[in-house]
Amino acid sequence: MAVIRSVIRGVGAYLPKRIMTNDDFSRIVDTTDAWITERTGIKQRHIAAEDELTSDLGIAAAKQALVRSGIDPGDIDLIICATATPDRTFPATAVRIQAGLGITNGAAFDVQAVCSGFVYAMTTADNFLKTGLFKRAIVVGAETFSRILDWSDRGTCVLFGDGAGAVVLEAQPQKGTRDDRGVLSARIRSDGRYEDLLYVDGGPGSTKTTGHLRMNGREVFRHAIQKISGVIEETLVETGYAAEEIDLYVPHQANQRILDGIAKRLGVNPNKIMSTLAKHGNTSAASIPLALNQAFEEHRLKEGNLVLMEAMGGGFTWGAVLARW
Ligand code: UT7
Repeated sequence: MAVIRSVIRGVGAYLPKRIMTNDDFSRIVDTTDAWITERTGIKQRHIAAEDELTSDLGIAAAKQALVRSGIDPGDIDLIICATATPDRTFPATAVRIQAGLGITNGAAFDVQAVCSGFVYAMTTADNFLKTGLFKRAIVVGAETFSRILDWSDRGTCVLFGDGAGAVVLEAQPQKGTRDDRGVLSARIRSDGRYEDLLYVDGGPGSTKTTGHLRMNGREVFRHAIQKISGVIEETLVETGYAAEEIDLYVPHQANQRILDGIAKRLGVNPNKIMSTLAKHGNTSAASIPLALNQAFEEHRLKEGNLVLMEAMGGGFTWGAVLARW
């Protein structure tokens, strides 16, 4: 039976120019390059300039994705931005991105699911396109986490970086089989009992301040592999694919040991797991589209490839999207 699927037409990314290495951190907090590398796989991260906002990063990423998609900006009717570091409490960063792209059609709004934001935004866009309400969407993951870090907390400040990535989706008729192009399965989950393990200790409605990121890393780590593997397995069962049939895994980039743990648990060759941790650190909602962009530029993503995106983040929130490129 013919169905409408959300086909990925283009991908793009943007990273701020300034790079901070692990050695730079050893001059700020009691840490070493050896500790950060061994425990996380991170070697460096990009940090936004003072005058660079989340929307600026998102606009740059979206522009590249649009050019690569060959779609006219005037034909875009939906923009969703996944971010936990919006320019302002309101309006939504997505609307500022819409204005920056010179688009006045359709709708734009933000999705807030922290590190799972891109998976949530893809799932939301996919459902709008499948129902026919919108035809062409830009899904952006953009973050300036450097602005919400406690730069004296070595347990968190060394982990995160800034950046943005974007994809252009188009609703296209497909056959309705698992060989179709586009999003084949999208699953999102949350469980608010775990808020205290990863949160920001401020907000307009509570402290009237922005606040700083707080994390019990060890506990988050304990949940991550189990929750992510679970939702990947559900996606595979739904579509009837085996883990080894996936051409490329593009996970949220939190810790190399989490990526290795998932590979082991699913019995997947680690070469099939995209890792950008060494260069980008954890860029929250931006990490998956940044990794997709790197995979595309390294010719590791070609038309027809099966790609699995997954993430877990504050909330807890988690989810997975399986798509054929
Ligand atoms: O993206 C959202 C989801 N987030 C995640 O998935 C993050 C999950 N968690 C992690 O990636 C890891 O738990 C961390 C990388 C955050 C921490 O690694 P860990 O192996 O779990 O270390 P730990 O928190 O258990 O700390 C071990 C030791 C502690 O010292 P003591 O108490 O054993 O003396 C920490 O104080 O390492 C110490 N430590 C550091 N030492 C040097 C913590 N941070 C640092 C640091 N440099 N930057």
